[in-house]
Amino acid sequence: MADVNKKIGLSLGADLCWPLCYEDLMKSLDLAIPVGGDTVRFEVERVSIEPYDLRQHCSYDMVIDRLTHWYHTSREWIKKAVLMDDLYVLNNPWSLQSMEKQTSYCAMIQLGMPIPETWMVPPKSYDPTPDLRSTLHRYAKLFDIGSVGEDLGYPVIMKPYDGGGWRAVTRVEDEAALRRAYEASGKLVMHVQRAVHPSDAFVRVIGVGPQMRFVKYDVDAPLHDRYTLETDFLDADEEALLRESTMTVNSFFGWEYNSLEAMRSDGTWLPIDFANACPDSQVTSLHYHFPWLVKALLRWSVYCTATGRPMRRTLDWDAYYEIAKTDAPYREKLRGYAAIADERLETADFEEFCAKHLSHVDEVAWEYFGSEAAKTAVRQKVEALYPAGEVEEFTELFWGRIQTWRDGEGSAQ
Ligand SMILES: Nc1ncnc2c1ncn2[C@@H]1O[C@H](COP(=O)(O)OP(=O)(O)O)[C@@H](O)[C@H]1O
Ligand SMILES: [Mg+2]
Repeated sequence: MADVNKKIGLSLGADLCWPLCYEDLMKSLDLAIPVGGDTVRFEVERVSIEPYDLRQHCSYDMVIDRLTHWYHTSREWIKKAVLMDDLYVLNNPWSLQSMEKQTSYCAMIQLGMPIPETWMVPPKSYDPTPDLRSTLHRYAKLFDIGSVGEDLGYPVIMKPYDGGGWRAVTRVEDEAALRRAYEASGKLVMHVQRAVHPSDAFVRVIGVGPQMRFVKYDVDAPLHDRYTLETDFLDADEEALLRESTMTVNSFFGWEYNSLEAMRSDGTWLPIDFANACPDSQVTSLHYHFPWLVKALLRWSVYCTATGRPMRRTLDWDAYYEIAKTDAPYREKLRGYAAIADERLETADFEEFCAKHLSHVDEVAWEYFGSEAAKTAVRQKVEALYPAGEVEEFTELFWGRIQTWRDGEGSAQ
């Protein structure tokens, strides 16, 4: 019987709030979990940026990564550590690096998911490179963007094929507007996508390992009100469908911390954006839902490190394609994909582990999210984003919503 220490690294950029809460909560819990005769304890540390020897040992068992999609020194360090030190990282760095929105659409279309009709178009302009002129002259086919719009039917959405953060997204109502949007798109490689219209609901499903949170999203609201407080807006069938869709995407791409966005039209949920492997995790967006995220990250990271579950380094898509090529109706196929996901993400074992070792997390989190330390964490994020004159008002707003969670859902757990 030995004491085993598991070290969890947080690879961070702009995130302030959830890491503070995660660290505080881990400290309050002071976990000592019996696993196979050992007692496993947990240490959390923030990953620093510094030169490293490629053969240098990595001391972390897991890294929760929120940085490496744009900070490449850390991305390469993470890839090295996965290859050489058995590091478990949320999310798979190769998948994150190479799977754009476009790839995620293609894969899920092939699995039968109802992705809106989408075209990709070559960019309107280019950086000058030596072979550009001859390549375009020889091979670029003249085309009329109007015929793409006509094929799709208006309204359409023009947006970058690699997406992220609502950059360069335009809703287009007619051909003249499509021409203007294309002219304005510059060097970006764009999708033109049939708009989900009319639509009566928008959901963001946040997935952490096999845990899911369904948030009703109001695109037209100001930023601080977009994640609504509604929790009862899906019936059981819809919830199952969205859970299975998110599990499928996440297990297919090796994203264990991702979000799926879908819009409902005429009773059908159409996924529009699910390559979000660094999903919005700020208390200033999530507020009411924020404690769920902190607890979900804590549970999944503790489970993975305590059990020593190895990270799946390669993606292995064949099992999904085997189901995709059958004649089964889509709903049945989706259940099949989700069963693969449940196996790969060890849903049943995870739930059993949580019931056995982490049943007090809800109560400790409930206490913590009423504490001065938690409020200070919220305030720090608000201070980073809002003008000085609005800090008090917005700290109270987000804190108030966390207290609403404590008074209702949070206390019932
Ligand atoms: N097909 C669509 N139909 C209707 N609205 C859409 C569609 N695609 C995108 N949008 C709107 O544009 C927003 C940004 O598009 P999204 O694909 O989520 O890009 P990003 O990767 O920038 O988040 C969505 O939240 C939604 O409001
Ligand atoms: Mg989006």
